[in-house]
Formats: sequence, C-alpha cells, structure tokens
Amino acid sequence: MQHDSIAVVDFGGQYAHLIATKVRRIGVHAVIRQPEDPLELFEGHKGIILSGSPALSSHGEDGDYTAGLLDRDTPMLGLCFGHQEIAKHYGGEVVHGGREWGKADLHIVKDHPLFKGLGPVEQVWMSHFDSVSALGEGFEELGYTTSHDGSPDHRFAAIGSDSLKRYGFQYHAEVDDTTNGDQMIGNFVLEICGATPSWTMEAFMEEEREKLRAQVGDESVFLLASGGVDSTVAAVVLKEALGSDRVNLLHVDNGMMRKDESANVLKLFERLGLGEHLNFVDASDDFLKALEGLVEPEAKRIAIGKTFVEVFAREAKRLGIEDHLLGQGTIYPDTVETGGTRRADTIKTHHNRVDVIERMIEEGKVVEPLAELYKVEVRELGETLGIAHEALWRHPFPGPGLGVRCLCSTGEPDTEDFDRLVPAATEAAAKFGLEALVLPIKSVGVKADLRAYEHPVLLSGDVPWETVLKAASSITAGILGINRCILNLGPEHPTVAHPVEGYMTRERLDLLREADHMVMEGLRRHGLYDEIWQCPTVLVPLALGDGEEGEMVVLRPIRSQRAMTATPVRFPDALLGELREGILGLEGVTGLAIDVTSKPPGTIEWE
Ligand code: XMP
Repeated sequence: MQHDSIAVVDFGGQYAHLIATKVRRIGVHAVIRQPEDPLELFEGHKGIILSGSPALSSHGEDGDYTAGLLDRDTPMLGLCFGHQEIAKHYGGEVVHGGREWGKADLHIVKDHPLFKGLGPVEQVWMSHFDSVSALGEGFEELGYTTSHDGSPDHRFAAIGSDSLKRYGFQYHAEVDDTTNGDQMIGNFVLEICGATPSWTMEAFMEEEREKLRAQVGDESVFLLASGGVDSTVAAVVLKEALGSDRVNLLHVDNGMMRKDESANVLKLFERLGLGEHLNFVDASDDFLKALEGLVEPEAKRIAIGKTFVEVFAREAKRLGIEDHLLGQGTIYPDTVETGGTRRADTIKTHHNRVDVIERMIEEGKVVEPLAELYKVEVRELGETLGIAHEALWRHPFPGPGLGVRCLCSTGEPDTEDFDRLVPAATEAAAKFGLEALVLPIKSVGVKADLRAYEHPVLLSGDVPWETVLKAASSITAGILGINRCILNLGPEHPTVAHPVEGYMTRERLDLLREADHMVMEGLRRHGLYDEIWQCPTVLVPLALGDGEEGEMVVLRPIRSQRAMTATPVRFPDALLGELREGILGLEGVTGLAIDVTSKPPGTIEWE
C-alpha cells in the first residue's frame, strides 16, 4: 500500500527523530532526510518539517543545505532552528539572543488550523540561544511566549504565511513537555498538508521483520542481553523473526549491576522461554580493571563499551560462535546522544556506540532491531509481542549500569570559574529564599542541543517544592557553567564541600548498590515504582562541611516518556524520611540530596 509521507530534515537537533516518531504515531509515514540530500529526495512528500540544530542560525551556521530546498512547493513547518531558517529565508531577521530554556506559555493570537482543538494559552518547551526578531513580507505572528522564569515576553514564537504554506514554531512541539505538541504536529500534517493517516505499528513491525530476515540471511545472532526492557524486547523480536535456534543470548555481569540483578535477569529470561540459549559470564574483574584510575565520564563510558566488546568476543570464541552477528537492544536516543546522526553533538557516548562497534556496524556485523524506536514504542511493541508487564515496565537501566552513577575524583577541587559562579548562584538562589553552594565537581548535561559538562549547585532551605523547581530552572538557565541543581536533604545547611579521592572500586559500587536498593524498595513500598519513569541513585565523591569525611548520595527521580526530556519528581515526606534514615545511616555516606533539574539542562544520568 502506498502511504502518504512527511520528510523530516535532520539538522542535527537532539529531537529530529522524535519529530518523525510523532508523525508516525499520527498514522502518517515519516522519513528522515539530511539537509544536503538532493532535491529529488524531497519529492512526493505531503509536507516537510525542518528540525532544530546545535548550529546558530543568527551566525549563518549550517545554512549551506541543498539549494532550493526552502523554495519547494510543499507545505513546511520549521521547529526552533528550522523556524529561524524559514523566517530568515523569507526576509525576516534572526538575532543571537532571546534565549529560553524549559517550559513557557504560548499565547495564541490567531485562530488558525495549526492550533485546532487547543486553548488560548498552551504550555510549550524551549531550548534556544537565537530568536526571530522581525518577520518578512506575507508572514504574521501566530503566537508569543511568556517564560516561567519571569523574563519578558518573547515575540514570534509561532509564525506563518498561509499563502506560502510556511510555518515556524520557536518551541519544540515534538517533545512531551509541549503539552499539546502532538496535536500541533498533527494539525500541520493532517490539516495543512492534507495527509491521510494509514501507517500503523503493525505495518512498521512487519517491515522490520522482513528487514531482519534480509539482513541476517542464513547467519545467526549473539545478543548482549542485560535484561532491561530494550534487550528483552530485542531478544523476543529476533526470536520471532529468525527462530530461537539462531539467537544466542549473553548476559554479562559487569560489576556495575544493581543488587541481585544478574540472578533476577537469568530467571526473567527463563520465564520468557529464552533460557535455552542464554549464556552468563561474570566479567566484573575485566570492567573494574578497565576503569581503574579513570575519572572523566567519557573515558569511563568508552572503557565500558570497549570491555563489552572484548568480553563478547571472548565468550563467542569460547562457545565457538565467532561468526555470529552482534545483536544489541540499541534504541534511538542511544544513537542521537552519541552524536550518531550526522550533525548531532556528542552528549554522551552510549556503551553500544563506541568506535569499535561503529566499525562493526559499517561492516554489517551488528543487528539492532529497535534502533529506530523510542522506549515508549519499544514497550508498545513488547506488548503486541505478549511480553509480561513486569518485564516491560521495569525502570530503564543504562548499559554501563551504576558506572555512570558512581562519580570518580582525584580529590582535587574543580573551582576554576568559582569567582563568577559563586556570587551569581548565591544571588539567584536568594531570590527564592534558598542558600546555594556551588559544588567543586562537574556532571554532564545538555543545553541547546550541546553537551554541557558543568557544575551542580546544592540548594538548602525550607521553601515549597514548586519554588525549588523555579529556582533550579532560573539558576541553570541564567548562569552559564551551571547545569544542575540539587536540594539538600541532610540536616545541616552545608556551606563548604570538598571532593574526596574515589575511583570505580568494588567497595564504592557496593555502597551505591545498597543505597540504590533502599530507593527501589522504598518506591515499591510506597506504590510509586510504576508512577516514576526512572530513579537513578548517584554516588558523588564530595564531603559536605569542614573537616567532614564520607560521600554524598543524590536521588534522581524523574518522569519522562522518551528520555529526551525529563521532569523531576517530588517524593512524599514519609518516603524521604525513610531514605534519610536509611541512606545517611550507611557507613561512608554523610550527605543526601535530591536532583531538582529538568532535562535539559541536566541529563537523567549524571555522566
Ligand atoms: P541521559 O542521561 O542521557 O539518559 O538523559 C537518557 C536515558 O538513556 C539511558 N542511558 C543509557 N542507556 N546505554 C544505555 O543503554 C547508555 O550508555 C546509556 N546512557 C544513558 C538513561 O538511563 C536514561 O534512561
């Protein structure tokens, strides 16, 4: 059957693929195109959507795409960078400034099909440095925004020209934090482009099965199976497509698993009928050796990824199946955050995207049935395959496991920018009735589609949760060099923090495992496990207070759908009380805090 389709032009924003997913969920096929693809590749589509980008439209960056692309006689919608490029192309002006991050209110000023079914004010989500400051002829303002951080109104948040069929949203309609973004994208696709929805998940699955059969041919697959949602669904998809005799599984204990995790995973695969071809290896010594003395997050991630491949190759040899293709449960965010699309920045190197695996992919030796999907779709696919709820709705757990939650330090404080950061953070926090302590370590985040390796700030004070969230968004948006805020849960208001030397050792991992176990048990006890999308527990080698010893634990409960954006979650007081008592009672832990940063600018994991 011939389906109507939309082309999504990937300018390298973190969410280009998310746009395509959203279009597909409306029931219209969507394909990703590169900006420099020849014009013929843009033919036959009902509409074109231009994505965001880490590039600055105001500086003319990345403006060298296929000539004539914007002049095509096809309806177009630009999002963020795409919006600015459309404005510029038709005589408008884009300036470096008018920065917004996080949620904002869109005030719709025109009754327009793009906003069919929506109210006069809609929550939208922003992440940009540049903005449109003037419109070209024939364009009109469809909406402006007011920000939640109290900054002045931002004009031209939504623009359009009905005669040209060109539209632009400064906000990211594709992320879940734009509450009715799906409806806005749907309105563009169905009302403006006139596409007919006929694309279903079943159609996608059917094609995926055929693709797998064609790719694998007569060969077999050896799948790295952590027991997480993705690798479990990947295992079942491969079994369905190829038959269980051609799918071998390898579960690796990398020493950075949760408490009792490997034993539980083995049981899970037995229950799924995948036990027969399951192999298990305890490779914790290999991983800890590879991580010895490492501190820098990317170095740690790369060491973990490489060790996975080494262990995989060794096990394949031991089992006499070296000729098998490497199977992985990679999902789309793993690729995009590693900078795996042509223009995207590397936010983090995911364990399944290190160089050696990239080379194997080029050689056609890697099979990844879920590489196009987001977590929410993986779960949907799992449900259609009849996989049990408990397996599908486990919290996501990253391949490098506790490795990205156990921060390491040489013991040297990182205070280079403190002359600027400390007064700025103190002043910004005081506006919300909070005290701020800039921490002399860094964690990974993402700002305007770029990796941000910056300082966290510890906030102390007794103000309502909503005020804490506002303070966090104001501090991280307003101060370059700060990407994360955490709220103190310990008894004192700490005024100094000093790093303690700590690397990836069994002892520290055991300590983190215990704290993590307490959090997971607490969530289950309070009936919150299913409500919360993910809750990393992080061990931070910082002692709070003068002359103190010990380390700090940070809780990171979040809500999300696709992991590309996330919102912090408040724990009930009773649970907080239990965790305070339990975690601060662990030997070696002297500080406790909860992360109150949305993603962006913080990422879900700290590294
Ligand atoms: P971040 O920290 O980038 O995480 O906001 C987004 C989601 O991805 C998970 N994550 C990983 N998953 N391999 C994985 O399989 C990795 O290297 C990796 N790094 C992060 C993270 O737990 C969250 O759900």
